[in-house]
Amino acid sequence: MTLARLKLLSDQYAFDATPRIDDVGVYHVPFESMSAGTPVERRFRGGALRGERIALIGDSGSGKTSLVSHILGPTAEAVAPVLVPVHSLEHNATKENLIADMIILQLPRLARETGYQIKDNNDSIGEKRQVTRLSRRSRGVSVQSPGWMARAGIAEQIERQTTTTEPNTLVDKIEVIHQCLQPIHGDELMPVFVFDDTDRWTAAAEETIVSGFFGNAIRWLADLQASVVVATHTRYLESTRQNSNLLTFLDTQVELPRIPSIDQLARILQQRVQIHSGHSNGDDPAWQLEDVVEPSAIEELYKQYEQGSSLRTVIQLAHMALVETVDANKDTITSREIQAVVRA
Ligand SMILES: Nc1ncnc2c1ncn2[C@@H]1O[C@H](COP(=O)(O)OP(=O)(O)OP(=O)(O)O)[C@@H](O)[C@H]1O
Ligand SMILES: [Mg+2]
Repeated sequence: MTLARLKLLSDQYAFDATPRIDDVGVYHVPFESMSAGTPVERRFRGGALRGERIALIGDSGSGKTSLVSHILGPTAEAVAPVLVPVHSLEHNATKENLIADMIILQLPRLARETGYQIKDNNDSIGEKRQVTRLSRRSRGVSVQSPGWMARAGIAEQIERQTTTTEPNTLVDKIEVIHQCLQPIHGDELMPVFVFDDTDRWTAAAEETIVSGFFGNAIRWLADLQASVVVATHTRYLESTRQNSNLLTFLDTQVELPRIPSIDQLARILQQRVQIHSGHSNGDDPAWQLEDVVEPSAIEELYKQYEQGSSLRTVIQLAHMALVETVDANKDTITSREIQAVVRA
């Protein structure tokens, strides 16, 4: 029985260390619930709602994307998040004009691709169009598309602004974006521009790109009534040359805390076990972590975390140990499997 559970968790990649951005927020255990006195999620959500410019600070694999996806995910209320993929610009990410182009490209892409389709509705009078909501499923985690694009007026205005004008100067581009934001504000939503992929710039060129991006390229966003969230690696701040630049623009800093204890790491794994057990059988009560992972294995994982492995690496180890355990026809992950994958 338990072997079957383990196999199901393994088949569903329950301990996937790099989930899709839509899924990762579902797995998120609020940092502020892990230790008293650090209102991480509350500060982040509050800053976004107030239209602040937020540096989300943490090492690789510490939970920046997890937090963004949890707070600004499909069910988020009162915000209209716009994920801007800037990593592919590489050196061009230092050019404010090209960042504006990227946003102008991204806005209609969101309108069309995040699961909403604008389609003619023949039954209605005149040219009225309807936005249809679609839902997606991935790896057993059900994901809804962002709610804000469902509002037909918003998608249409974005389509109109971005397809009928061809702005050349930065000022013109800012005006197009400004116009796109109007119906969003009209619906009492705060637009949030999210730059969450700056870690993917190639290491060799990173320093120049980082200083150009933070120091120049995104500053014009301050003229818009919108929040800006930039995932910021701790190492960006450590470089003194960029330090002052970076923190003057991003006036709110939200730093990710460490996972404070074995029990909290267990909660993170438990969340995944619970989510995936729910998909096996409607009558089955949610499984407990101890049904599948021995406490000594979690202690072993936490030891790796304390010795410097990121949370992502720790989850990856749990995944590898799960696969090993299933392959060996065993019914619980023990510290032995963890030690084996650490050594491998
Ligand atoms: N608070 C949390 N609750 C549950 N899982 C978490 C939490 N924070 C992080 N994780 C998990 O840890 C892993 C790494 O998190 P994430 O991808 O968000 O890191 P990151 O800071 O965005 O890293 P990078 O800088 O490399 O993009 C993911 O598998 C994620 O699900
Ligand atoms: Mg990330």
